[in-house]
This record gives sequence, structure tokens and C-alpha cells, in this order.
Amino acid sequence: MSSPALECINVSKTYFLGKDIEVKALRNVSLRVERGDFISIIGPSGSGKSTLLHIAGTLDRPTSGRVLIDGVDVTELSESELTAFRKNKIGFVFQFFNLITNLSAIENVMLPMLLSRRYMLKEARLKALHLLRLVGFPEDRLRNPPNRLSGGQQQKVAIARALANNPTYILADEPTGNLDVSSSAEIIATLKLLNNFGNTIIIVTHNVELARITNKIFFMRDGQIYEEAPRSFLERMPMDEAALESKRRIQLDILRLERENIERLFKSRMISSESYERALKNLEDKELRVKH
Ligand SMILES: Nc1ncnc2c1ncn2[C@@H]1O[C@H](COP(=O)(O)OP(=O)(O)OP(=O)(O)O)[C@@H](O)[C@H]1O
Ligand SMILES: [Mg+2]
Repeated sequence: MSSPALECINVSKTYFLGKDIEVKALRNVSLRVERGDFISIIGPSGSGKSTLLHIAGTLDRPTSGRVLIDGVDVTELSESELTAFRKNKIGFVFQFFNLITNLSAIENVMLPMLLSRRYMLKEARLKALHLLRLVGFPEDRLRNPPNRLSGGQQQKVAIARALANNPTYILADEPTGNLDVSSSAEIIATLKLLNNFGNTIIIVTHNVELARITNKIFFMRDGQIYEEAPRSFLERMPMDEAALESKRRIQLDILRLERENIERLFKSRMISSESYERALKNLEDKELRVKH
């Protein structure tokens, strides 16, 4: 059996603000997220949601407890190991993880692929194009820099960028936070689609509409986490069949590009046969989910 995407075990985080002043932002939080899950975390302001997301993103370390990502205990990794790990295993859609202002939309999505050194320029450009199509980004805006895009369009770029390196999961802190109702609805539909296609997604949100399309809702209060009653229903995504079919084709194209990339890396001995086998298995699992 494969390990869960994320496992937080008795995670606590205390901020020490000076002598005798401490803030217990997280108290013994345990959370397990399986591959393919789509979970939301809700709760009042100051309850620890962003703190937990930062820890799940290895941007912050817990004061105590363990965090396993893809079966790897990240609390034991050094800073430089963490940086590499984070780049390839986690996709961020955070408000403060802004897009790079002097790069175009498509270049923003290409950048993580180029930095990973697993993709050639041509491969990165083609995959970025497909990812942007998948999230419904308008094709006549590919060359626009972020300041010439709407909020909803910028968020789509951020989501496409988060997917660039096939992360174990995507973390999103208030992904609809600054958006109007219709852009929010588009982002919600996009996240649902991406999850249907096999991506694991963890979001923090105040948006009830967004929380209710996820598979599991967790509630935080005073640094503690509670699981709401398990949801017995999976709502169908509000998308017509023709639109869904076209997204399916785009996703299958991306998986095909990915397979070509993996094969090139393997042939040029840039990855081991174990990573090659694992990647192929992963791609096959995803293909099944998309076709299903
Ligand atoms: N760097 C920090 N130093 C000290 N205290 C912090 C720090 N970051 C967060 N806190 C405190 O930890 C607690 C949890 O904060 P967190 O940002 O996780 O809340 P949140 O649930 O995300 O809230 P919101 O919904 O307002 O975004 C708060 O009391 C906050 O003031
Ligand atoms: Mg927050």
C-alpha cells in the first residue's frame, strides 16, 4: 500500500513572543490526507489554519510532532533538502506567493519546470500551454504579465503553476479570497475538475461554496482540528459534457507529454529505474481516473 500524501502526527506550534509570552497556534493536530483527496479546512480567524498550511508546505517547522509527505519525514530534513523537496512535491496557491511580475503568464508556469531541470524549454512551454488550457486561462492572454490580467486569471496562472511539477498535493490558502462571485465560481469548478483528474488538494477557505464541494471538511478552533461528519456524497461538477470532454482530452495530452518527458529522462539516465517505474505507475493511475 502506498503512503498517504500527507500525515501530520501530533503537530504543535508555539510562537514565543518574548519572555513569558507564547502563542499556541497549533495544539496536537493530527491530519491524514490520502492521495486523490480534496479537503478543506475552515474555522475562525486566528484558529491556526494558515499555520497548519505552512507546516504542510514545509515553509515552517512544528515545535513538536511529525510531518510525513509521501512517506518522508520532513521534520528530519535540512533546510537545503527541504527547499528541493518543496519545489517538486508541493504546489502552492497562496496569496503571498505572488506571480513574478516581469514574466508573462506562460513564463510563470514554465519557471518551476525549468528550475527543476527535468524539462527542456520546448517541453516546458508545451506543458505550460496545456496546463493553462486545462484551468481555462484565455489563450489570447498568454503573453500578458500579471498586472495585465484579472484577479481570476492570475489565480488560474497560480493554479497552473502549482501543477507544473506534478506535486504530491496542492495547498491553497483562500484561493477565492480576492475574487468576485463569478471568478470564484470558475476557480471552484477548476479545483473540482483537477481533483476529479486525480490531483490531491488541501484548501483553507472561508468560502462555504468551496468547502462544500470538497470530500472532507475539517474545522479548526484554538489551534485544534476536528473532522466534520464524513461526507457521504460527492457532488457532480457543474460542467456540461462537451466542456468536460475537452478538458479530459487536454488532461490526457498533459499525461502523454509527461510520459515522453519521463522516458527522455530515463533514457538519458537522469532518473533511476525506480523513479521511472514509479512515475509510470503514477501516470497510469491518473489516466484511469481521467478516463473513468
Ligand atoms: N509568525 C507569528 N508569530 C507569532 N504569532 C503568530 C505568527 N503567525 C501566526 N501567529 C498567531 O498564531 C495564531 C494562528 O494564526 P493563523 O495565521 O494560523 O490563523 P488563521 O486561522 O489562518 O487566521 P485567518 O483566518 O485570519 O487567516 C494567531 O493567534 C496568530 O496571531
Ligand atoms: Mg490564515
